[in-house]
Amino acid sequence: MAKAKSYYFCQECGYQSSSWLGRCPECGKWNTLVEEVVKSDGGKRKSSTVTAKSAPVRIQEVTYSETKRIPTHCGEFDRVLGGGIVPGSLLLLGGEPGIGKSTLLLQTALAIHDRRLLYVSGEESEQQIKMRADRIGINTESCYVVSETVTQRIFEHIDAVQPDLLIVDSIQTVTTEEVESPAGSVSQIRQCTTEFQHYAKTTGVPVLLIGHITKDGTLAGPKVMEHIVDAVLQFEGDRNYGFRILRALKNRFGSTSEIGIFEMRGSGLSEVSNPSALLLSHRDEELSGTAVAATIEGARPMFVEVQSLVSSAVYGTPQRNANGFDMRRMNMLLAVLEKRCGFKLGAKDVFLNIAGGMRVNDPALDLAVACSILSSNVDIPISPRYCFAAEVGLSGEVRPVSRIENRVSEAARLGFEKVFISKYDTRNLQLADYGISLVSVGVIEEAFRALFA
Ligand code: TYD
Ligand code: MG
Repeated sequence: MAKAKSYYFCQECGYQSSSWLGRCPECGKWNTLVEEVVKSDGGKRKSSTVTAKSAPVRIQEVTYSETKRIPTHCGEFDRVLGGGIVPGSLLLLGGEPGIGKSTLLLQTALAIHDRRLLYVSGEESEQQIKMRADRIGINTESCYVVSETVTQRIFEHIDAVQPDLLIVDSIQTVTTEEVESPAGSVSQIRQCTTEFQHYAKTTGVPVLLIGHITKDGTLAGPKVMEHIVDAVLQFEGDRNYGFRILRALKNRFGSTSEIGIFEMRGSGLSEVSNPSALLLSHRDEELSGTAVAATIEGARPMFVEVQSLVSSAVYGTPQRNANGFDMRRMNMLLAVLEKRCGFKLGAKDVFLNIAGGMRVNDPALDLAVACSILSSNVDIPISPRYCFAAEVGLSGEVRPVSRIENRVSEAARLGFEKVFISKYDTRNLQLADYGISLVSVGVIEEAFRALFA
């Protein structure tokens, strides 16, 4: 008979202790240890992931069959996965509530019509799932749905359906009878993830888990889950806009630099293969404070519009705000502009926004940000036919960026007239004619003079 024993688990990092502690010795957080009851079964745990009897062999002698990936029939999803779902893999899809995780996976489940699928939901009833499927509007005969939260029951359903792919809508709602703590607690999440991992590795059936994300952007539950799974995908975007970005934070079977871009429509998520065309607002009038940046996300060039508003501070302390751009980076650029171009921005309110609810981390955005701030400050518009791709250094120098050829040729393709780049990048660009004029600048003042003088 299993014996119940309780341990204290850190809800942040999963650290286990036999007594209560005020501060977790692992992650240093205070007041995160919570008592959880764990049923011990005398060491007969089947948590090992090694399926066959193990014996060391020479690496040259290890053979494997070229595992065939399961295509998801969704170009953007396949791109992020590295070309489909690997058999026997365990994937975790994280994201804020309401961002579209359930929609993405249900849509994928409906699209993979040539395999048997089981969609287990602990959050919605079968009727609710059906309503969602009707909205998406794909008809398939091979997708089974069930509303269940206990893993032991889920495995019974699996035995009955014998699926080729399993989807579990939210790991935080499932519980195992092995552990007595409530759903969503560290020991539950860890044990359930291990059970699904064991299932995936022994049967070769891939398992896709949905995970919630906490306010500060980390996956709810312990970090240990991220170590167990083969890939962690994150679905993000601004809920007020239609855009959704799928990123791989970890991927044992592919690159983590690729992203997938989707748009939430009335009938589910649709793939966006040309994001630049949608992100650049169609302006008739020239307005000050707007500059277009040629950024690269994953391996694809993506053009985004940077908007800023500079005005005299009404209250004592000037306000600074940035949406979709790192605030500290913006403050650094403001300091550079103040020192190098002599603008008195210290007493001004500065608001910055990346249009379309995008969040961009490419350093090549710097020059567009600096120029849009200057444009708003002097109230002279920048032509919508110009774009920018360069990093700005602390001494005001305009630095080269990666993959400049891709950015320049994409700019030419989208019909821009001029692209502002670092003079050190001109050397990298061969004398090929891109059909666009290159403005090479060495320091930020040169860009300012070329635009507003
Ligand atoms: P959902 O997949 O339930 O989010 P999550 O599982 O990440 O919590 O998606 C929720 C939102 O998506 C919801 O606010 C409604 C919207 N939505 C659409 O706009 N179109 C659709 O076709 C569907 C199914 C949902
Ligand atoms: Mg959901």
